[in-house]
Amino acid sequence: MAKETVANLDWNHLGFEYHDLPYSFNEEFKDGQWQGGTLTESSTLTLSEAAEVLHYGQEVFEGLKAYRTKDGHINLFRPEENAKRLANSAKRMLMEPYPEDKFVEAVKQVVLANEEFVPPYGTGGSLYIRPFLIGTQPIVGVAPADTYTFHIYATPVGAYINGLAPSPYTVSNYDRAAGAGTGQAKTSGNYASSLLPEIEAKKAGFADCLYLDPREHKYIDEFSGANFFGITKDGQFVTPKSDSILPSITKKSLLVLADDLGLNPVERKIEIDKELDDFAEAGAMGTAAVISPVGSLTYKGQKHVFYSEKEVGPVTTKLYNILYGIQEGDLEDTHGWITHV
Ligand code: PLP
Ligand code: COI
Repeated sequence: MAKETVANLDWNHLGFEYHDLPYSFNEEFKDGQWQGGTLTESSTLTLSEAAEVLHYGQEVFEGLKAYRTKDGHINLFRPEENAKRLANSAKRMLMEPYPEDKFVEAVKQVVLANEEFVPPYGTGGSLYIRPFLIGTQPIVGVAPADTYTFHIYATPVGAYINGLAPSPYTVSNYDRAAGAGTGQAKTSGNYASSLLPEIEAKKAGFADCLYLDPREHKYIDEFSGANFFGITKDGQFVTPKSDSILPSITKKSLLVLADDLGLNPVERKIEIDKELDDFAEAGAMGTAAVISPVGSLTYKGQKHVFYSEKEVGPVTTKLYNILYGIQEGDLEDTHGWITHV
């Protein structure tokens, strides 16, 4: 596959796709220690046919974005949170965690090396950064690996769903993760298990599906690639509390911003049969999705419309503008969330 060139890119219509950029970052763990990481021009990995990751799924990953500001600087949004979550995911999957301080430095190196691929300010594009960690030891019996590769690639992206345009969603009959399973870890198996439900939902015309809690199918959990929030008719920001969902960094940030706005935010169980009518607005939130308004949710054959299927609601708009304004550097970073590259 040929390396991507800037001349080949249409910044305003990037989509959410892989482009093979000039530089990646790679570091190996063996003999009980990390061996020192470097930028590399190689965007392929060579693995044993018996590598742990290929059979027993020891893989954890992250997703974060670099944003071009109006004055041409580059902002990262809370990269230390991604470092922490990668380490937590690694612990759950019994993998060697990547040192958190080295993580942020490595991300910066990848962004700087591929600087010309950070989309211009105002295009709606950003540089999506994908750090990941895999078990590489050739192993036949089921056991954790003792060698690992940490690798980062980056790719310029546009909107993951439909940007701020409301989309239709449906509630899945499948589970994404087990109760007491790996739902809180950002690990490939959770995404493999969500492929069938997600593709079935897409074929039926929905942007994605919403999973319910795997124990009782009573409470809202999350989407395949984003957390859920609702704004109640009396103006409260509500998002699910569940041990089978990914602890979203966007969610963590919106809880703070919602508090700043006096929306009295709360994380609690949301009982789907009883509470859908209480929400005036609803949305999906995540790094790739940013905030994607849920125009409608189809559940048990009934379509439930929140604010509107065509227009984004006022509270969702306000939250989006503040979050994206901070990320792109248009608004003051009052919470200390921005790292300059
Ligand atoms: N939930 C799932 C399953 C995800 O894949 C993501 C994306 O990372 C999120 C939620 C949102 O998390 P974050 O806001 O940290 O990107
Ligand atoms: C992200 O938002 O970073 C994710 O990993 C979601 C993924 C489904 C693209």
